[in-house]
Amino acid sequence: MNLLTFDSQQKLHESAAGIITGLVQTRPRAVLGLATGGTPVGIYHAMVKSYQRGLVSFRSATTFNLDEYVGLPESHPESYHSYMRNQLFRHIDLPPAQAHIPDGNAADIVAECKRYDRLLEDAGQIDLQLLGLGHNGHIGFNEPAHTLISGTHLVNLQEDTRKANARFFHSIDKVPSRALTMGIGTILKAKTILLVVKGADKAEIVHTALTGPITTQCPASLLQTHPRLVVLLDAEAARLF
Ligand code: GLP
Repeated sequence: MNLLTFDSQQKLHESAAGIITGLVQTRPRAVLGLATGGTPVGIYHAMVKSYQRGLVSFRSATTFNLDEYVGLPESHPESYHSYMRNQLFRHIDLPPAQAHIPDGNAADIVAECKRYDRLLEDAGQIDLQLLGLGHNGHIGFNEPAHTLISGTHLVNLQEDTRKANARFFHSIDKVPSRALTMGIGTILKAKTILLVVKGADKAEIVHTALTGPITTQCPASLLQTHPRLVVLLDAEAARLF
C-alpha cells in the first residue's frame, strides 16, 4: 500500500487527477472505474482543467461507474447519471457510448446486472479504479454484510448510508433505499486502486479499514489484499496514521 497525506485539498485533488490523467496519457485506451459522492468532485474538476489545457484526451478511454440508485430517473439532479454528466462527462471528449453506468431504472434488474458484468468483461481489466469510502466502510455501495457479492448486484442501502447521502436530497425520505453496485470481486480485479478519503469524520473508518482485521463487515478492509493500492488522504482523515 502506498499512502500519501496532503495538507491542502487542492494538492490532493491535483495529485489524484494527475494519477488518472497520467495513466490516460500513456495508455489512451485505458479503462477507468469511476466513483461518485462528494469526494471526487474536486478530482473531476482538476481532470477537466487538464483536458481544457490540452494535456489529455479521453477520446479512446472507457469508463465504468461503480453504482447508481434504483428508481431515480436518470434526469434527477442527484442520479449518478446526472452527477457524472455535470461533474465530468459534458466537459471532456469521452464519447458517450464509452461511458458506462448501471441502469437503475431497468425493468429487469437481474438482466441489467448481467449486462453490466458482460460489458466489464468485454472491456478487460479495469486499469484504475477510483474509490471513495463510506462511513461504515462501504465501497461503491457494497455495504457491510456476512457475505459480499463478487459481481454487479442490487443492494438495500443501510440507514446510515441514506442519512449520509440525505445532504444531497431535500430529506432522508427522498434518498432511494436501493441501488445497483459493482461487486467487490470486480473492484478487486482492477490493476490499480486509488482510494481517496477526506475529512475528520472518516479518520476512524479509514484507519480501521486499512489496519484492522480483514472482514466483510468492513468491505474496504478487503482492499488490504490488493497488490497495487494507492491511498490519498487529507490531513484530517490521516489523523490516526
Ligand atoms: C456514496 C457512494 C460511494 C462513495 C461513498 C462516500 O454513497 N456510493 O461510491 O464513495 O458513499 O461518499 P462521499 O464521498 O460523499 O463521502
